[in-house]
Amino acid sequence: MPGIILANSAAGVGMRAAVKALQSGRHALDVVETGIRPVELDPTVRSVGVGGWPNLLGQVELDGSIMDGRTLRTGAVGALQGYLHPISVARQVMERLPHVFLVGEGAARFAAEIGAEAGPTLTAEAQQEWKAWLAKHVPDEARAHWPHEGLIEWARLTADPETAGGTTTWLVKDAAGELAAGVSTCGWAFKYPGRLGDSPVIGAGSYADVRYGAAACTGMGELTIRAGTARAVVLYMKMGMSVEEACREAVGDLRALTRLWRGGVTLHAIDAQGRPHVVSIGRGHTVKYWIWTAGMVAPEERAAAIELW
Ligand code: GLY
Repeated sequence: MPGIILANSAAGVGMRAAVKALQSGRHALDVVETGIRPVELDPTVRSVGVGGWPNLLGQVELDGSIMDGRTLRTGAVGALQGYLHPISVARQVMERLPHVFLVGEGAARFAAEIGAEAGPTLTAEAQQEWKAWLAKHVPDEARAHWPHEGLIEWARLTADPETAGGTTTWLVKDAAGELAAGVSTCGWAFKYPGRLGDSPVIGAGSYADVRYGAAACTGMGELTIRAGTARAVVLYMKMGMSVEEACREAVGDLRALTRLWRGGVTLHAIDAQGRPHVVSIGRGHTVKYWIWTAGMVAPEERAAAIELW
């Protein structure tokens, strides 16, 4: 089994370490975590970890999840504040708790209890952009009393930052044939506090089952939560579809949704043999992804197939 790493465009900074981990025989879960941690620390990756977009209150709330395709065990954290590596906290939820999903204060409490790396995640640049966004959208009077008691009307103006391909998604099949999926994100820029996207929602933002394959999504998580997209892709492969057919069917599910506004979705998938497919549905702009398989000198960046809404 040669192994494969399939990751989204934001993953570049973690690819080298992940390939090294895979080549040295590490488990797929370790490769996922190894790959995501540098992305979480890179302030230039604006939708993940340090440097991520804050919510409407100027707080960075991070989401992450990991799934073991052999046991179907999973761990996830949502709206985690003050910790640098949601992917590692999510993994420890999987390893150490009888639960699969912690959010908010409970997630932070758990992170403290396990000695996870704490640290600031709001950079001066991100704070400046948040202030500039408020100045542009919120009248002086409301801004003078910020946080304004009613945030709903401002939440309706927030932007899905992932037109730039932010959230990082990783699918790894290791040399022993084990399969894992992992995702990390800050979610939408200037979101309503407490908003969770699809990244920590297993079955929406990611899913892995070694018998059939794995899938992970970037883009507008509100859509993939509604369609149960990652699980659907794996289920379609279970029903006998190829990885391309399974993604096409899931794109059809997304098209059938009544959409709110803005935003695309990119599906990353591999089948049980490690055959990859990546398709982006949106306004037709090019979306890249990273791939490495045995025999490649270095990870390659390729363009996803394009579908229009
Ligand atoms: N896909 C990431 C999010 O919606 O937060």
